Amino acid sequence: MAFVFLVGLCILLIQVNFSADAQEGFISIDCGEVGSPYTDARGITWVPDGNYISSGTVATVSTGVGLSDGSSRSLQTLRFFPSDGKKHCYTVGPVNVSTRYLMRASFLYESYDGADTFPSFEISLDTSPWATVNIITASAVYVEEFVAVATGGSFVVCLYEGTNGNPFISSLELRPLGAGMYSVPYLDQSFLRKTLRVNFGALSAEAVRFPDDQSDRIWASDLASHLEGEAPGTRRISTNRSVDVSTTDRPPMSVMQTAVEGGKSGVSYRLNLEGYPAACYAVIYFAEIQELRPNQTRAFFFRANIQDTTFDGAVLNLDRDAGSFKAYEPGYINITFPAIVTIQLLEDNSSTLPPLINALEIYRIMPILAGTFADDSEAPPFCRSVDSPSAASPAEVPGDPCLPQPWDFLTCSSESPPRVSSIKLSSRNLTGSIPIDIGRMTGLVDLWLDNNQLTGTIPDLSQLGKLQTLHLQNNHLSGDFPSSLANIKSLTEIFVENNDLSGSIPASLLQSGVLIRADGNVDLCTSLSCAQSRKKKGNDFSLAGLIGGIVGGVVALVGALLAFYLWRKMKKKKTKKPREPSRLPFHGELSFTSAEFLPGDGNPLQHGDGARVFRLEELVEATENFSKKIGSGGFGPVYYGILAEGEEIAVKVMSSNSTQGGKEFYNEVTLLSRVHHRNLVVLLGYCLDLKERMLVYEYMHRGSLRDHLYGPLSEDEPFDWTTRLSVLLDSAKGLEYLHTGCSPTIIHRDVKSSNILINEKLTAKVSDFGLSRLRTDEESWISTGVRGTLGYLDPEYYGSQQLTSKSDVFSFGVVMLEVACGREPILVSLRGDPDANIIHWARKLFQNGDMEGLVDHRLKSNYSMSAMGRLVELAISCVDQFGRNRPTMSEIVGGITEIMQMESSSEFASRGLTDSMPSSSSRSSEVESPARRSDNESPSGSYNYEISSSDGIPPSGLLSQSTVDVPPVK
Ligand SMILES: *[C@@H]1O[C@H](CO)[C@@H](O)[C@H](O)[C@H]1NC(C)=O
Ligand SMILES: *[C@@H]1O[C@H](CO)[C@@H](O)[C@H](O)[C@H]1NC(C)=O
Ligand SMILES: *[C@@H]1O[C@H](CO)[C@@H](O)[C@H](O)[C@H]1NC(C)=O
Repeated sequence: MAFVFLVGLCILLIQVNFSADAQEGFISIDCGEVGSPYTDARGITWVPDGNYISSGTVATVSTGVGLSDGSSRSLQTLRFFPSDGKKHCYTVGPVNVSTRYLMRASFLYESYDGADTFPSFEISLDTSPWATVNIITASAVYVEEFVAVATGGSFVVCLYEGTNGNPFISSLELRPLGAGMYSVPYLDQSFLRKTLRVNFGALSAEAVRFPDDQSDRIWASDLASHLEGEAPGTRRISTNRSVDVSTTDRPPMSVMQTAVEGGKSGVSYRLNLEGYPAACYAVIYFAEIQELRPNQTRAFFFRANIQDTTFDGAVLNLDRDAGSFKAYEPGYINITFPAIVTIQLLEDNSSTLPPLINALEIYRIMPILAGTFADDSEAPPFCRSVDSPSAASPAEVPGDPCLPQPWDFLTCSSESPPRVSSIKLSSRNLTGSIPIDIGRMTGLVDLWLDNNQLTGTIPDLSQLGKLQTLHLQNNHLSGDFPSSLANIKSLTEIFVENNDLSGSIPASLLQSGVLIRADGNVDLCTSLSCAQSRKKKGNDFSLAGLIGGIVGGVVALVGALLAFYLWRKMKKKKTKKPREPSRLPFHGELSFTSAEFLPGDGNPLQHGDGARVFRLEELVEATENFSKKIGSGGFGPVYYGILAEGEEIAVKVMSSNSTQGGKEFYNEVTLLSRVHHRNLVVLLGYCLDLKERMLVYEYMHRGSLRDHLYGPLSEDEPFDWTTRLSVLLDSAKGLEYLHTGCSPTIIHRDVKSSNILINEKLTAKVSDFGLSRLRTDEESWISTGVRGTLGYLDPEYYGSQQLTSKSDVFSFGVVMLEVACGREPILVSLRGDPDANIIHWARKLFQNGDMEGLVDHRLKSNYSMSAMGRLVELAISCVDQFGRNRPTMSEIVGGITEIMQMESSSEFASRGLTDSMPSSSSRSSEVESPARRSDNESPSGSYNYEISSSDGIPPSGLLSQSTVDVPPVK
């Protein structure tokens, strides 16, 4: 018994030790923390950031994040930086050269600065843009990660101004990766930015990370990852048996012990990859985690909507290829993914079991950009030692001088590579002498070192062929005035007053028209006469200057007033608020599993094709403070406005009780703003503010179809029959485009006459497409995920909750009936009577041949009865109980086109109850003729791709399996 106890104790001790060792090389920086280091619940030791950065201001976030693992403390302080076009950099190290590391930056925003718009700013790995941090909701954790190889003693991570607000950061974590992990051949010129990392079949919404993952990767639970397009019938499976995870990238065992198993149609997910199309590194992790009986096989193959053939074809049989309970990770080291990628795993013919997936990682390949011109980035040693607010830190300005943004006292040229064009270090309390290397910075235009305590001589600047202004006044510089300045033709200003210079100013300079200020130098002769008399001694001082430069080479420059001020400010903040973690209302989105939350660098302002971002003030002005309400949809009110450019807009203000996440909103908006068609209302952009979410649309002057049929405009501007038909044709074309022209297919889900808008030219456009998924609650909406408006709702969708494009067809059928009959889909006045429903009522009248009772009396008799008959017939086929019997949108477009031709050829000639009166077989084949396509019954988000032959050869992009042994840890 005692023995067992001792063994147990040993194991415990070993485990404790192991987990402590495993932290070796971890650097965990709590930005804005000013206390002492501490250890969190996972055993990670956090340190304050004072030793890693020398600028910025610290602040405390009062909303603590209720993370169960206790990591929240590191997010409760932050450091922010002025939005000044300059960069602010952390030097994170020491690191081992040639080792691969994972770097993670986290951001938790709260309006600590009193600003009323969310910040959007940039981060970089030294010179190379890493991500745009685009905060779209308060109190959610945004995480960016990269994998890179260390090329020096540290990594430099910089933050700089973006489109909005102050850059800030909450924490920075550096983790060494095990030998062989993420070993791709191009890491000398690129780094990998994490796009997503998902653990499928996860047991909870909690992410898996250290100590389960020795590299402390964060594996987001699929339950919290907003995955879309999941194939029907998938189920979650897991095992307690240990899984061998010794593959190249070493996924944690707990991640491999769970999986999602597909149904009949396999496994399928739709991924919205922000900032793509792009080349990426993608790894899919598989492990057979079920005991297979002898007569069972699991064999499947990949499919995705990508052009790369390496991805398709090969049949994977885990038991055969890797063995059961062993991880297998096909990886694609350089594959190009589109912005929306649908990954499918499909069961092979030889298989008896459906496909499964355990985990997935996608990293975007980011280029490492060259730095500033070498002479400039190496030359001015003193530039690297400015601004040290804290005595403890080795005062250094880290990173490249110019890229991606210059240090705060530099400006750089826009050539490639950039050159430093100005150094402005006036009044910074600089001491020591001017480094001679400054003479190599041949791109310099302005050199201002005035009002410091510089000593020594002025070095040789004769190579600075572009120098225009030289300000060295109010220092203690000595030695002779450098006569070589006379050779610089570009000079316009030389200020050297109040120094200890001697010698004389060359006559050529004095005569050249350069503005020279040289008073206050006791031994310096500034007149033309002595310049000439002293000419002979000319050569001496350049030698003296050189010696002086070398002797004075070591420079010690101390922080300026600014730094002192910042330090004071920091001290004040420190004592301000005691941290008081409070729980946030919607916990699901706030844990680390919201790692996927960050919309990446898809900042639409900067990446052309997306929606425009509007500032709240802009919209307040455009709408005259939301004074003219033109409607109220299920989302909230709609206001009229005019942009400064003169464009008329409609602003939809999303109701404030909508609880959908910022990410969902952002995803949808970016998706929708890419959809353009003549018959779709243009989504111009959006505004995401702390409190408000708004969508900005083009303004449609003539209201909705509903308004003209039986709404407020039906008296003044009634639509005649041909206008009605052309409105129907337009809107059918818009819907057809959503169904067949977009990838993935967009199902409107809320087609109705009030969503069909009319412009001045009487062109109809469908509005609100795609928005239903942004909506949460609304009384006309059925719960349980079924979305739509009563009266238009497809009963099949309602019953099965399987959404297809045929649901839109159903609703459009109702719209066609409204057009023909001029009545509302549901007449509240007839409540309880089946005739309250337009479908029931119209079908009955149509079958009874009572067209007069059916057709809108506002049309008088200005229509051809045969065309009208066709339209009603087409409409009734659209509202068939079964989706498979309904025509497709393309067929409807064809049908309406025919009806319009029929109408124009008849010219009201053959009016009356004629040919096309309903027979008992109510669907005429002519109606479906135009573009009969294969019955498109596939559920939303699924794709039909050509299947290339499955020949059993593994995809050529597969990484070979490495056999590095890692002891599994639990
Ligand atoms: C496989 O074998 C099991 C018994 O081991 C049996 O119950 C099952 O029906 C078999 N399935 C097939 C498809 O042959
Ligand atoms: C990835 O592949 C593309 C297309 O073949 C190529 O242009 C690019 O240079 C590759 N990237 C890397 C980092 O190897
Ligand atoms: C410069 O140094 C002096 C003396 O040490 C100090 O009083 C002054 O505040 C400093 N100025 C700045 C800008 O740091």
